[in-house]
Order: sequence, then structure tokens, then C-alpha cells
Amino acid sequence: MVDLGTDLGFLRLRNPVLTASGTFGYGTEFEPFLDLSLLGGIVVKGLYYGPREGNPPPRLVETASGLINAIGLQGVGVERFAAEVMPRLRGIDTAVIVNVCGSDPDEYYRVIEFLNGVEGLAAYELNISCPNVKMHGACPAMDPRTTREIVAGAKQRSRRPLLAKLSPNVTDITGIARAAEDGGADGISLINTLLAMAVDLDTRRPKLGNILGGLSGPAIKPVALRMTWQATRAVKIPVIGMGGIMTGRDALEFMLVGAAAVQVGTASFIDPGASARIVREIEAECAARGIDRVSDFVGTLETGR
Ligand SMILES: Cc1cc2nc3c(=O)[nH]c(=O)nc-3n(C[C@H](O)[C@H](O)[C@H](O)COP(=O)(O)O)c2cc1C
Repeated sequence: MVDLGTDLGFLRLRNPVLTASGTFGYGTEFEPFLDLSLLGGIVVKGLYYGPREGNPPPRLVETASGLINAIGLQGVGVERFAAEVMPRLRGIDTAVIVNVCGSDPDEYYRVIEFLNGVEGLAAYELNISCPNVKMHGACPAMDPRTTREIVAGAKQRSRRPLLAKLSPNVTDITGIARAAEDGGADGISLINTLLAMAVDLDTRRPKLGNILGGLSGPAIKPVALRMTWQATRAVKIPVIGMGGIMTGRDALEFMLVGAAAVQVGTASFIDPGASARIVREIEAECAARGIDRVSDFVGTLETGR
């Protein structure tokens, strides 16, 4: 038996596998496909304060080894989430983390202040990394000072542990990771999607209603792995790695470079039971290598220098 227990310091998880925001609905949609209590946790779809319809269709395009999405953070808003979604999620024995969105700093804070009063949440994940087309694909996590300020403001108001979700669309992830740590983040999640686009040669039109979108899936795994490695070396707080994880082996690669836990995103579109399968595969891969505790494997990469 392999001990999959994962201690993030601020939160203990049954195992290191969480579902990535926006790829697993509010969790309960996946109940027909897997037992949610087998997961380390669920990160629910990003929530703004009010309901949002998201972007015009088409909102998803498949690419070589990837997916470009421009959903535009469609969501029910905090009030319906508290009234309709949380009563069902409270019955599930897994950590529930809310991905917090805002169109300005004040909205992030209002979402957190509202959710502070909602029972049964384990942590918040501050989504400062969603490519915003109105800002030409920019997001707060592209700038260290903005990152530090929003994280600090959110941390000050938060009654729960706070993760900062970072963007890969930056030149130097280490400076942004340090800014999130300086702002008081308890942990970092990365990466969000890579800014991307797809066009139709015949119609000469963009394939997405929104023109730009975010690339995810196996195509981004090497970039995600590199940024996870860099971030874990730059900060002392735990890093949750994601980007193209499809198997237990992929998940262990992120842990090898230093991720304390992982999130599974696009894989759930191909196989809705992927996250639970990945838990089983991590266990089998550890057993095959004689690793008794998965946490012992974290950050054991040997670079030879
Ligand atoms: C359809 C879709 C919707 C997403 N929505 C969100 C979101 O609401 N908030 C967020 O922080 N990330 C969102 N993401 C990004 C994922 O959580 C994850 O960071 C990214 O997809 C990389 O992981 P993956 O390659 O395993 O999918 C979304 C991704 C996809 C594909």
C-alpha cells in the first residue's frame, strides 16, 4: 500500500490529485462517472460575484494534442452557488476549492467576503490568470506588482487558505511566483492556459467566437513542467502543478520537479473518470518503484548540478 496523503501545510488532502477549474463543472456533474470522494479535491469553475453568460460560440477548438477554449468564465455567481451547488457538494467527502474571479480587484474581494460565510469550503484559488480578451489577452498575473496587490488584498479578507493561480503568458514566472508569495498566498497553482488562436483558411475567419482563447492539454505539458520546476525553486510555499496531465506518470513528473499536488484538466473531457484513474495510476507507479509515500518523491529531480 502506498501512502498518497498530501500535506500542503494549510490543507491535508487524501491524495495529490485535484480537478482543474473549468474542466469539472461544479463537481456534481461528474458523479455518474466517478466517486468524487476518491479525489484529493475539486476546484470548481471560476466564480464572479454575479452570473455570467460567457463568450459567444464557438467556444472550443481542438488542436494537435490540445484544446483552445474561450468559454469566458460562464458561471452561476456566488449566490446561486451557495444556495444550489454547495448543499450538494457538502455531502461529498473531498476538499472543495473555489476558483475566484473578478473583473477588478474589488470584485475578487467581494466574492471572497461572500464565500467566507459559506460553510464547507477548504480554500480559495484566486484566478488572476484567465486571458481576458477585452485586455488583449492580458491578466493581472502578467505583472508582479498587480499580482502582489491583488493577492494581498484577497488574503487580508480571506478566512480560508488562498492559492494564487498563475499565468504561463509571462517572460519570467519566478518573479510572478515571488510576488504572489510576498502578497501572502499560501500556495501557487500553475499553469493556466497559454494564449492562443486558430483560424479557418477557407472562411478566413477565426475559429473561436472570441478570436483568442487559451490552449490546454498535452501540447502544453513541457511548458507547464518547466514553469512548475522554476516556481518551486523560487518560492517556499507549495506549488500545485498542472498542464496536460493525462496519466499517473504525467502527474508524477510534475511531483518529481517539485509540485506538492497536481490538477487534472483537459483529460476529463476525453475521459470523465480520468482524475480517479490518475489516482490509481500514481499508486501503481509508486508501488512499482518501491515508493511508500508519494510525498517522499516530491522534488527529488536530480539535475546533476
Ligand atoms: C474549458 C476550460 C475552462 C477553463 N476554465 C477555467 C476557469 O474557470 N478558471 C481557471 O482558473 N482556469 C480555467 N481553465 C484552465 C484549467 O484549469 C487549467 O489551468 C488548464 O486547462 C491547464 O491544464 P490542462 O492542460 O490539464 O487542461 C479552463 C480550461 C479549460 C480547458
